[in-house]
Amino acid sequence: MTNSKAELGVIGLGTMGAMLALNFAEKGFEVALFNRTVEKAHKLRSDNPELETRLYPQTKLKDFVASLSTPRVIVLMVNAGSAVDDQLDALMPLLEKGDIVIDAGNTDFNDTRARNARLASTGIHFVGMGVSGGELGARHGPSIMVGGDENVWARLRPLLEPISAKYESSPCVAWLGIDGAGHFVKTIHNGIEYADMQMIAETYGIMRDGLQLSPQDMSKIFADWNTRGLSSYLIEISAVVLSEADPETGRPLVDLIVDAAGQKGTGRWSVIEAQKLGVSATTLEAAVAARSISSSRAERSRASAIFGDLALPAPDFSPDEAGLKELELALETAKIVAYAQGFAVMSAASAEFGWALPLGEIARIWRSGCIIRSEFLRDIMIAYKSGGEADNLLLNPAFARRVTTGQAALRAVVAKAALSGIPVPALSAALAYFDDYCRERGTANIIQGQRDLFGAHTFQRLDREGTFHHSWPAV
Ligand code: 6PG
Repeated sequence: MTNSKAELGVIGLGTMGAMLALNFAEKGFEVALFNRTVEKAHKLRSDNPELETRLYPQTKLKDFVASLSTPRVIVLMVNAGSAVDDQLDALMPLLEKGDIVIDAGNTDFNDTRARNARLASTGIHFVGMGVSGGELGARHGPSIMVGGDENVWARLRPLLEPISAKYESSPCVAWLGIDGAGHFVKTIHNGIEYADMQMIAETYGIMRDGLQLSPQDMSKIFADWNTRGLSSYLIEISAVVLSEADPETGRPLVDLIVDAAGQKGTGRWSVIEAQKLGVSATTLEAAVAARSISSSRAERSRASAIFGDLALPAPDFSPDEAGLKELELALETAKIVAYAQGFAVMSAASAEFGWALPLGEIARIWRSGCIIRSEFLRDIMIAYKSGGEADNLLLNPAFARRVTTGQAALRAVVAKAALSGIPVPALSAALAYFDDYCRERGTANIIQGQRDLFGAHTFQRLDREGTFHHSWPAV
């Protein structure tokens, strides 16, 4: 160890914490390790003999802290929630001014803001840091979204850039704003991740139930789509999931997996925050809701017994080249809407919380390492870097052209799915949002009339300045 001290420490050696610690060690850092179950820290070292000269398991928290060079950098990778507070409580008496504690978990940004406020007077820095890329990302290069004081970033940058993912040798890590900015951006990343996955699942549903394609055929289609506009990690893994055979039965594994999706909370948080900010994120909402419905299997089964035989027309999808092209274009167009909504939520949060979130920079660090990584994020980066940081992505000329071209396909796919009863909640939410967003004269005038009639909520007029209340006939 340099000066007999480790350059940073990692607390919490579950899968993600362990992988991050190994990543730091592999990049040449000396890493102190601490875990509540102390054997885990020792085992991580003995399991990785090639890195053992840079891994320092400690049995006691006091020794762990003492083994770090100052100002100390401690990465917490514990369960979000009370475990973070418990660990902070245990650490605080052992730390000094200038030390930095990083919460690298999937934490609610509201908690991160509260912890920043709590530590503000102590001189100890608290950094909320979003880390995306799953287990492999943490081990070999995640996308990293850093929040907290900007001057702390100068200290962290040389530690985080080497372990981050690289896109054309540019490190996928950035400081995004004070207090909860990093965790907020990670939450919206996950909301977009949910929407992207749901739209892929709906497209799979059309191919399975509307076109009766086999998982192998669908896998080939996704692999083909992965060579152009939709090229992304999520499309790539969809092709892999569809091609895998169950080793015991030989059947496509996907056909044996229960159709109930789990969720740990970040997707839901993204939607709650969008609602609080008054920003429409209907594709993210549809994705969260679809996971909830997926989990109510028994109830779905009862509903299916009642409504399963509505004698709907046969699906009008076609597996020929034109039909598949239409599906591809529909997915691509809906995906643009989902990302536009996610970025609009970040734009509103930026104003609300005084972060000045760099939207182009966020797209830049999502291009590699994270779960939603794709070529498409490069286009978003360019769109935001070419001006209009606060504007909805749909107003950007390049994306406007793509949506203008693709909307007819999205319309056709949603309409055909609706007629034949194939659920497409996220695809149709994208279309509905697009139509609503582009409509100069909407229908909220009648809502304002209703509100004024029953509650004297007042309204504004197109032909005159001011606020008005009408004497409506008694009803
Ligand atoms: C990532 C992922 C990762 C995880 C989320 C979502 O960016 O690496 O988003 O954080 O997948 O926790 O998990 P759920 O689907 O279980 O909510």
